[in-house]
Amino acid sequence: MTLSLLMMSAVQEAANQGDFLFPVQASTVAADHDWLFYFILTISGIAFLLINLATLFFVVKYRRSRCPEPQPSPTHNTMLEIVWSVIPTALMVMMFYWGMQNYIDQSIAPADAMRVEVSGQKWSWSFKYPDGTETSELRCAVNTPMRLVMTSSDVIHSVWIPEFRVKKDVVPGRITEMWFEPILEGEFNLLCTEYCGTEHSGMNTKVIVQSQAEFDKWMLEAGDLLAKMSPVEAGAKFFTLKGCNACHDVSAGITLVGPSLKDMYGTERPIEGGPPVVMDENYIRESILEPQAKLVKGFGPTMPTYQGQLKEKEILAIAAYIQSLGGK
Ligand code: CUA
Repeated sequence: MTLSLLMMSAVQEAANQGDFLFPVQASTVAADHDWLFYFILTISGIAFLLINLATLFFVVKYRRSRCPEPQPSPTHNTMLEIVWSVIPTALMVMMFYWGMQNYIDQSIAPADAMRVEVSGQKWSWSFKYPDGTETSELRCAVNTPMRLVMTSSDVIHSVWIPEFRVKKDVVPGRITEMWFEPILEGEFNLLCTEYCGTEHSGMNTKVIVQSQAEFDKWMLEAGDLLAKMSPVEAGAKFFTLKGCNACHDVSAGITLVGPSLKDMYGTERPIEGGPPVVMDENYIRESILEPQAKLVKGFGPTMPTYQGQLKEKEILAIAAYIQSLGGK
């Protein structure tokens, strides 16, 4: 192995373990943030030393015992004044510029980021994925940006993932956002960093970063409600997840935008411009995929198709759920 390769792997090694101040850099913004921090720390350290050494020097040099009578001021040194104004100003502008750049980078999520809803409550976190899967640990795919849309159901909490260098308050009655792109696989800590009561210190969970393939596999399994619950339970969940309940009553027998589904399974339904049909699994399936094919008398063609949004076994589960609502 050549020397440069050895050095590169040593640098990589150091980055993977973190340094004496910070944990490992596990997101795209981490290196920039650390770099800026060290830049500001170094400049501040140098300025601190220069100012204090100069003060010490002048205190000793111009002490009263050496010149008891007031002396006329030395001539004005324009060059010196320009130098000590321009250099610090330039350094301040650099700090502001890089700080602003990092802030903007961290404020605007990429358009293709996966949206995850975060809810904080005393004293736990919950994460909701686009397919409705809810978890208590935050799982993400490496090199894939993730946008957290966050709110609290009680008091102010705050999400902090030190390895990603991200932190944001989670506030009741308000939605806050934050995003990151993990660059390392592994498990990291997600902590609440706003004092929120007795169990505040226990309000932490894990961020699990996996390869895209592993994440997709997990998503598929976690999203597969059918594997975890009975068809009727899963059907009820899909029914609300897909918003069917907005238009179809299931308990009161009343007509909303669409017909009620209570006590309907197995009954004969009058059809607009055609012979009546028995409401069975096939009719339910057809009505979900092609809602306009056989409209119940008195209802307009307002329902959208769910073609491509529901898998066959999910449709079957919904049918089982509708059957559970009663009928013949
Ligand atoms: Cu939640 Cu501290």
